[in-house]
Amino acid sequence: MKDIQLTIDKTFGFVNQAAVQGYKQQATEAQKMLHEGTGKGNDFLGWLNLPKELTPEFLDDINTTAQYLKDNCEVIVVIGIGGSYLGAKAVNDALSDTFAWIKQDKPLIVYAGQNIGEDYLYELQELLKTKKFGIISISKSGTTTEPALAFRLLKTQLEQQQGKQEAQKLIVCITDKARGALRTLATQEGYKTFVIEDNVGGRYSVLSPVGLLPIACAGFDIKQLVAGAVRMQELCDISVPYEQNPAAQYAAVRNELYKNGKTTEILVNFNPKLHYVSEWWKQLYGESEGKENKGIFPASVDFTTDLHSMGQWIQEGQRTIFETVISVEKPNHEVLFPFNEDNLDGLNFLAGKRVDEVNKMAELGTMLAHIDGGVPNIKISMPQLNEYYLGELIYFFEKACGISGYILGINPFNQPGVEAYKKNMFALLDKPGYEEESKKIKQRLK
Ligand code: PA5
Repeated sequence: MKDIQLTIDKTFGFVNQAAVQGYKQQATEAQKMLHEGTGKGNDFLGWLNLPKELTPEFLDDINTTAQYLKDNCEVIVVIGIGGSYLGAKAVNDALSDTFAWIKQDKPLIVYAGQNIGEDYLYELQELLKTKKFGIISISKSGTTTEPALAFRLLKTQLEQQQGKQEAQKLIVCITDKARGALRTLATQEGYKTFVIEDNVGGRYSVLSPVGLLPIACAGFDIKQLVAGAVRMQELCDISVPYEQNPAAQYAAVRNELYKNGKTTEILVNFNPKLHYVSEWWKQLYGESEGKENKGIFPASVDFTTDLHSMGQWIQEGQRTIFETVISVEKPNHEVLFPFNEDNLDGLNFLAGKRVDEVNKMAELGTMLAHIDGGVPNIKISMPQLNEYYLGELIYFFEKACGISGYILGINPFNQPGVEAYKKNMFALLDKPGYEEESKKIKQRLK
């Protein structure tokens, strides 16, 4: 069976190959810090061995809970934000039929608590009025405002529609084992719960119940997802020599590009189903590396769509960027381009070809054009879009992020900067306990 492949040779016109290979010692040190738990943020390393630690019994428990929700709900609302949302959304969008919401052959999975848009919540509540729905409420801290707000609204609605007793069976909470408001609430109401372990941070939690339950609810094979992650855990293990270790190589080359002025990394796909994989990746790398006035800015585009918008900037704008392209080798379906007698659109040269052949030539043509335009190119080839290879991809990015963060010299597992907006928001909302901040901030606004 093939694996995901990393190709970095199209960066060597921009950075020195020997310099990239010169990261051997730093990358090995970084790996040691991860595996021996001697680096910054070492109380958040639970993700490192997570795939191998997930037992079949545990996955069966997740699948049984998912089956109950699937059997009893027309809509399942997954509530969470950041790491408590993006991993599940990424995998579910990548694997779902794009038009599943119209076909309605399985419960519809929708998301809430990832924004505070009143219109979004109004429209969701309107949709749910005529549906039997369930809720998966996810928050590690159990105190994050956005999901807590959505949960209160939707729990109230569910209890009004179904009665408290039935609603209780349709709510599952995923949170800390002891702390936080969500844990207190779940215990008091008697909800089914799953635990997010202390040592697994939000953005590294997709292979914990945080991602696995919503993915199982969407009907996908979480055992295959975990099998792919286990495989990548082996391929990126500390015992694998630096030159053959894809996570170490990716971490090294992006640090060398950064050192050479390439301060923005653009994650590129040629398959719209990967849009949220990029959103997940941006959170993983942005929140992990953007600190101490350092860090590559993670951006993303969906090609060929964005070749008609951002393509101009990428081709000819400021030369501070590099691209990392996720290329899916084989589509899951076949569409052949038809022959037309009149050929009024002049497209008969494509007759009999698969649509993917056109897409692949667009991909190749874009890579060559962007290299010519001064944009280094990293390629990640994925044999197919399925659970197994998404599992490989997730673990690959997680491991590389840990190594890359340590090479950069920061703590890849905290996010102190996220607190600043919360403090201001609470002060502006007059939250009890924020009286002093409230006075100060209101003074500033006069
Ligand atoms: O990666 C992280 O830790 C964050 O993005 C969190 O996942 C996010 O802030 C949500 O936190 P919580 O799960 O505590 O509600």
